[in-house]
Amino acid sequence: MDLEYSYQRYLASKKYIDDLSLNQRVLGALSAELNVRNTERPFKTIEIGAGVGTMIERLLEAELMPSGEYEAFDISRKNIEEAKKRIIAFAKKHDYVIENLAPYEVFLKKGSFSMTLKLYDQDAVEIIKSQEKSESTDLVIAQAVLDLLNVEEALPSIFATLKPGGLLYSSINFDGVTYFGPTIDHEFDAFIEEQYHQTMFDSKTGRNLLSRFVDSEGEILSVGSSDWVIYPPALGYDADTQYFLHYIINTVHEALIGKPKVDKQQLELWIKERHEQVDGDKLLYIAHQFDYLFKRS
Ligand SMILES: C[S@@+](CC[C@H](N)C(=O)[O-])C[C@H]1O[C@@H](n2cnc3c(N)ncnc32)[C@H](O)[C@@H]1O
Repeated sequence: MDLEYSYQRYLASKKYIDDLSLNQRVLGALSAELNVRNTERPFKTIEIGAGVGTMIERLLEAELMPSGEYEAFDISRKNIEEAKKRIIAFAKKHDYVIENLAPYEVFLKKGSFSMTLKLYDQDAVEIIKSQEKSESTDLVIAQAVLDLLNVEEALPSIFATLKPGGLLYSSINFDGVTYFGPTIDHEFDAFIEEQYHQTMFDSKTGRNLLSRFVDSEGEILSVGSSDWVIYPPALGYDADTQYFLHYIINTVHEALIGKPKVDKQQLELWIKERHEQVDGDKLLYIAHQFDYLFKRS
C-alpha cells in the first residue's frame, strides 16, 4: 500500500484511539480537581508536546477547563500550525467567540468560560527550566511525551513550575508492551518487539514514573492503565484507524531498518505482511500505557 506518512495526520487519527483508551478514573479525578479550582483566577495551564492540539479540543469538548490561560508547546512548527488551524475550526464549529490577539494567540469565549490560548513552537522543557521555581502554573499536561523525554531531568523542572498544590496530568505513557497479531512467527514477532523497544529512550516509562512520583514531594491522586487495544470491528477498520495502524507499522519499520541484528529481508517480509493485515481487517495491536494525576505539595 502506498501511503504518504504525515505526522500531523497520524496525531489527528490518534485522537479517537486515545479517547477510547484514556483511563476514565484518572480523567474523572482531574475533572473533580478542576471543578474545585474553577473559581481560581486566572487558571494557568501548560501543555508539553501538544501535537496538533487534540488535548485542548478534548478538554473543551468535555467542558473540563476553568477559565484562564493555556500555553501549548510543541517543538514542531508544523504541529503548531496544524494545532492553530484545528482549534480555530473547532471553536467556530462549537460557537465560541474568537478573537485573534496575535499570530499564535487566540482568545476563546463561550458563556461564562473564556480562555487565552498561546501556541509556541518551542522546547517546553527548556522554557520551564529557564523559569526554574517560578511556581506559576496550576496544571501541566503531558500526553504521550514523557516517554520521549529524559524524565529524570524534566520532572524536577515540571514540579518547580507548578504552584504548591498544582497538578500534573500525564497520560499515554508507554510501558514496555507492544503486541501485533495474528502471529506471523512467534520468535521473530518477539524479536521485533524487543528490538523496537531498544530503540526507545525508556520503553518502561509508564511503570518507572510510579516510583518517581512516589519519591516526589506530593501525592498521586490517581493512576491507571490506558492501553491501546485495537481490533477490527464488524464493519472493518475505518480510514483513520487504518491510517493510524499503517503509521505505527511504518514507525517500527523505520526504527529497525539498518539495525545490524535485524535481518533486512525477514524484516521487509514481516512489515509487508503486517500492512496487508491492516488492509485485510486482520491486524490486532496493543500498546500498554499508564495515565497519572499527581499533585505537588
Ligand atoms: C507522540 S506526540 C504526542 C502529541 C500529543 N500530546 C498527542 O497526544 O496527540 C509527542 C509530541 O511531543 C513533541 N515534543 C517532544 N519533545 C518536546 C519538548 N521537549 N517540548 C515540546 N514538545 C515536544 C513532539 O514534537 C510531538 O509532537
